[in-house]
Amino acid sequence: MAKIILAKSAGFCFGVKRAVEMVYNRFGKENVYTYGPIIHNACVVEEIEKNGVKVIKDASEIINPTTATIITRSHGISKKTEDALRATKAEIVDATCPFVLKIHKIVKEESAKGSQIVIIGNENHPEVEGIKGWATGEVFIVDTKEKAENIKLDPSRNVVIVSQTTFNYKKFQELVEILSKKGYNISIRNTICNATEERQTEARQIASQVDSMIVIGDSSSSNTRKLYEICLNECPNTFYIQTINDLELSKLSSSDYIGITAGASTPQNIIEEVYTNVRTEFCRDVR
Ligand code: F3S
Repeated sequence: MAKIILAKSAGFCFGVKRAVEMVYNRFGKENVYTYGPIIHNACVVEEIEKNGVKVIKDASEIINPTTATIITRSHGISKKTEDALRATKAEIVDATCPFVLKIHKIVKEESAKGSQIVIIGNENHPEVEGIKGWATGEVFIVDTKEKAENIKLDPSRNVVIVSQTTFNYKKFQELVEILSKKGYNISIRNTICNATEERQTEARQIASQVDSMIVIGDSSSSNTRKLYEICLNECPNTFYIQTINDLELSKLSSSDYIGITAGASTPQNIIEEVYTNVRTEFCRDVR
């Protein structure tokens, strides 16, 4: 009989919960849109669309803007996008996580003062695209040691470093260390969200104790992918699944300890379903 350890930090973080509730609260209302998928989870987006909320990529897709409501994502948007949405005269509901808004404020204020901005993060992630869009001067995006080593900044001007909220804390420290040795006048703002750090630390601890580890989240969720990488590093028998349908229970059969965690955009019902199925199959649990 196996023991199951379910991470206490698994599932929706504060910012995602808040954004999703903002959409749920508008079910039944006409002409409601989200600017991009509200979170990186196909099941949640599907449910939202079934309730009449449309996902758009551009302000031009809004039908009859004067009666429309547009809900932005927890990841946040650039200033240019915000301006374009506001210009439609639709009602804008800003679901940007307050922790991301804080980064927008730093970038806006510091670049207005002439600082060069370095964002530690993945340049293709919507949160980073949004953060970048609040700078009025140069922005550099760094996510690898090579990029940190090869960066060329103006030594006569200040450098402000911020981070994507879901970036791996250890990797952030490594990259900051490389940048700090370059002799620039650097101000480091660790804007990694505590929820991310706590989730990653707990996942690492659990993965280091178990024989098999399950990480639940959408394939497009970058924070889930990072959790998976962390867990895989500790536990070679780690599985990245979106729902219970992706899990081959037989692969867990020789495990005495099974860990479960989930990304910040994974709904509770999906986590419960995985937990219940694994528990039913392998019995005893530790919660
Ligand atoms: Fe916000 Fe942190 Fe979640 S930044 S969206 S509470 S991971």
